[in-house]
Amino acid sequence: MIERTEDLVIKRMALEDLDEVVKIENQSFSDPWKREFFSEEINNDFASPLVAKLDQNVVGYACLWIFFGELQIANIAVEKDFRRKGIGTKILERITDYARDKSCLKITLDVRESNQGAIDLYNKFGFKIVGRRKKYYRFPVEDSLIMEKILL
Ligand SMILES: CC(C)(COP(=O)(O)OP(=O)(O)OC[C@H]1O[C@@H](n2cnc3c(N)ncnc32)[C@H](O)[C@@H]1OP(=O)(O)O)[C@@H](O)C(=O)NCCC(=O)NCCS
Repeated sequence: MIERTEDLVIKRMALEDLDEVVKIENQSFSDPWKREFFSEEINNDFASPLVAKLDQNVVGYACLWIFFGELQIANIAVEKDFRRKGIGTKILERITDYARDKSCLKITLDVRESNQGAIDLYNKFGFKIVGRRKKYYRFPVEDSLIMEKILL
C-alpha cells in the first residue's frame, strides 16, 4: 500500500478510468451515479472530471462544473482502502487551483447532512454551511447541506 500522497497524479478522467471509477462510486454512495453519467462528463468539454492515480490505479475522483463564476463539485470520492491518507485533501487542493485559474469566485457543493466525515473535511478546507436543500437525496431521503468556499 502506497502511503505517499506526493506520488499522486491528478488528471482529467478518461474512458479507460471508468471501470475503476464506477467501482469506487458503488462502494461510496447509497445512490451511485451510473456509468453513463461519468462517460457523459468525460465527453463534455464544459465538464472537468478528474481522477487521482497512484501507480496508474484510480484511488479517487471528482466531477466539477463551472457556472457563472462558480465551481460546483458535483461528485467526489476516494477508494475506501485509501481514505484518511490525505487524498481527498489533495483533490480539493487541485480543484481550488483549477477554480482560481478559471477566475471562479467560489466553490460550492451539496453534502448529506449525516456525512460528518466529508463535512469535517470541507470545514477543514475552509468551506462554510450556507444553506440546506430539503429532501435533496434519496435512498435514504435526506436533506443536503450547501457548503461554499469563497476564493479570495
Ligand atoms: C469524504 C472523502 C472524499 C474524504 O477523502 P479522504 O481522502 O479520506 O480525506 P483526507 O484523508 O484528505 O481527510 C482530511 C481530513 O478530513 C477529515 N475527514 C475525512 N474523512 C473523515 C471521516 N470519515 N471522519 C472524520 N473526519 C474525516 C479529517 O479531519 C481528515 O484529517 P485526518 O485524517 O488527519 O483526521 C472520503 O471519505 C470518501 O470518499 N467518502 C465517501 C464518498 C463521499 O462521502 N463523498 C463526499 C460526498 S459530498
